[in-house]
Parts: sequence; C-alpha cells; structure tokens
Amino acid sequence: MKFNKLLGIVGAASIILGVIGGCAPKQKKSTNENMDIKKEIVGQVDGKDVYQFTLTNAGGMSAKVLSYGAIVTHLYAPDRDGKMENVVLGFDDPAQYWTEPYINDAPYFGSVVGRYGNRIAQGKFTLNGKEYLLATNNGPNHLHGGLKGFDKVVWDAEPVMTEEGQGVKLTYNSVDGEEGYPGNLTISITYTLTKDNCLKCDYSGTIDQPCPVNVTHHGYFNLTGGAKTNVLGHEMQIMADRYTVVDETLIPTGELRPVAGTPMDFTEPHTIGERIDQVEGGYDHNYVLSDDVTELRPVATVKEPVSGRSLEVLTTEPGVQFYSGNFLLGNLTGSGGVVYNKHWGFCLETQHYPDSPNQPTFPSTILEPGEKYSHTTVYRFGN
Ligand code: BGC
Repeated sequence: MKFNKLLGIVGAASIILGVIGGCAPKQKKSTNENMDIKKEIVGQVDGKDVYQFTLTNAGGMSAKVLSYGAIVTHLYAPDRDGKMENVVLGFDDPAQYWTEPYINDAPYFGSVVGRYGNRIAQGKFTLNGKEYLLATNNGPNHLHGGLKGFDKVVWDAEPVMTEEGQGVKLTYNSVDGEEGYPGNLTISITYTLTKDNCLKCDYSGTIDQPCPVNVTHHGYFNLTGGAKTNVLGHEMQIMADRYTVVDETLIPTGELRPVAGTPMDFTEPHTIGERIDQVEGGYDHNYVLSDDVTELRPVATVKEPVSGRSLEVLTTEPGVQFYSGNFLLGNLTGSGGVVYNKHWGFCLETQHYPDSPNQPTFPSTILEPGEKYSHTTVYRFGN
C-alpha cells in the first residue's frame, strides 16, 4: 500500500497527515483508483489522537469517518439531478462529539454503539449462574453499552482499499470488566464506500469469556439533503411482519406481535408521519426480521419524494430498530447550522432484539470464546 506523506495545514484545526491510495492492481479498472483516502488529525481524546478519514467513490459520493466512536459524521449522496448533499445528522466540528452537553443529550449520532446496542432491563443479566451489573444510564435501564460505550472511545483506525471501494477499518480492544461486561473483546467495524453507492458495515470480533455482544451503527438519516426538513414525509418500507412489544421503559415484554392492521405495519410503503400520532412517543421499535443471523438480504427501503433520494438497507441481522428521532428536541445545532428538532432524522439500527440477555426466547447474543462475531449491514443509496 502506498503511503504519501503530505504535511500541511488545512483549515485552522486540522493537519493532513497522509493519503493512501493507488493500491488497486493495474489490471483492475477501479473506478476510483486515482483517488486517495484522506486522513486528518482532528483532536485528542483520552490522550489519543483522533483521526477523520474521507472516503470517496467515482460517482462522487463521499463519507467522513472519525476514529472517535467510529462515527460517520458526513455522508454525501446524489439527488435525482446528481446533486451531492449530506444525508446524515452530525457535526462539522469533530470536537462537538466530545463536549459534555452533547454527551448528556445522548443521541449517539452516526456512531457504533456497544457492547450491547439498545437496552438491557434494569442494567443486569445473569450468565452461567453469575449476575453482571451494568450502568443504568436510561431511566431504570442500560442503554447502548453504558456510560462510556464504544461511541465514546478512540478506536484504532487504518484505511483499506479493496475491490469494493475505499474503506476504513476501526478496531477497539474492550477489556474484561469494562462497563461491567465480562471478557476481553476485540471488536472491529470496516466501513466501505462502495463503487455502487453503498456504505457497507462489516463487523467482526472475538472474546475470551462468554458475553452478550450486540453492536450496531447508530446513523440518523435525512434524505432531503442538508436536513432541510423533518423526515415525516419520507416513505418507509420495512419487510417485517412482527415487532417486539415494549413496556413504558422501552423494554420488550417478550411478545412478538404482528404488525398487520396497526400503525406499525410498513410492509407496504407509508410516510413516517402518516400514522406516527397513533404510536405513543413515535416509532422506537425493534422489527423482527428473522429468528437469527442469516444471509444478507434487503430489509427496508426509504424514499424521499422531493429530492428523489432513496435508501435501501440490507443486513444479516435478525432485527432492526426503527427510531424516528423522537428525542431530538432542538437542543443541538448540527452540520451547516441546522437545528435538529423532533423527527429531524430516522435510524434503522440493524441488531439483535433489545434485552436479549434477559429474554430466553429471543435469538442468543452470547459470544463465546473461539467463536467469531460477524455481521454485515449495507446502506445503499439511490436516486
Ligand atoms: C433507541 C432510542 C434512543 C436512541 C438514542 C435508539 O436506538 O431505541 O430509544 O433514544 O437510540 O439514544
């Protein structure tokens, strides 16, 4: 792999450290072989440098990824006229992500959440006869890995060029006992911006003691481009005929209820806003896709009629959390100076069902020593 050192000041805060590119084999007609993966240092957290990588493809799409929290800060996708605009919520200034007001607001913009994405009831679970206690950081429950989950740590990061496109591989070593979870876990996510306009997320991991692991990308999408309006006009389709019913603290009761005949039914396309008033609090539910990890298949499609942009989600995971940005309350001003009000973005977090460690009938999330944690989710953009 070629590594060109290109020291120079870019803007006030960032220094270009290097660019990586030109590693596509000559015989391969790579569509973006002449472009480089930009790597900039954008700050320091916990005494570690934080980098931002910029991935591009020949179609003109680009994605910016931070080594802090494995956060996708920007993702530019074409509208029906080919105009590239940002389709995710986040901040232009990376330092915003580690400010106290942002952390307290807890939207988890664009990050990877874990060890356990979504909720664990009462912050505890029992495994092989031993009870483990976790932080209760969301009412009475544990959410998204605890007080300092994977969204708030600095990951090791390396650029990767493959046949599919430009990528960045982020790896984090989570030690035994971190946030109350057992076992030393090594977890990686590789984001690849593919030639066919996908953001591909490949997760992998290993552990030395059994532990529940459920890691997901927590991106908020707004396909208007530049988050011009809320997302209530987006047309959503989710290929799931059941969802996990939750109590008032958003913990599953164990029931898998058919969506048919209810405002939860997105088996045919509906705008997000059409029936949202009939769903208490808005959409924040896990849709049941399958009984376990499976082959990569399409699970959701979203269309934004004004821009013409669309998003197709494919995953190997058994569930997807459709969250309609109900807790965005106008407290945060994001990229381009846009105030993020209620329903300004939606998430489709591919995952295992919430609270699986306490729900014996749900597909197991226990990663055992010697096993490989592995799943893939693809966000495909169309216009
Ligand atoms: C959860 C929401 C939560 C949001 C931000 C989603 O995954 O389901 O309840 O508010 O993340 O933390």
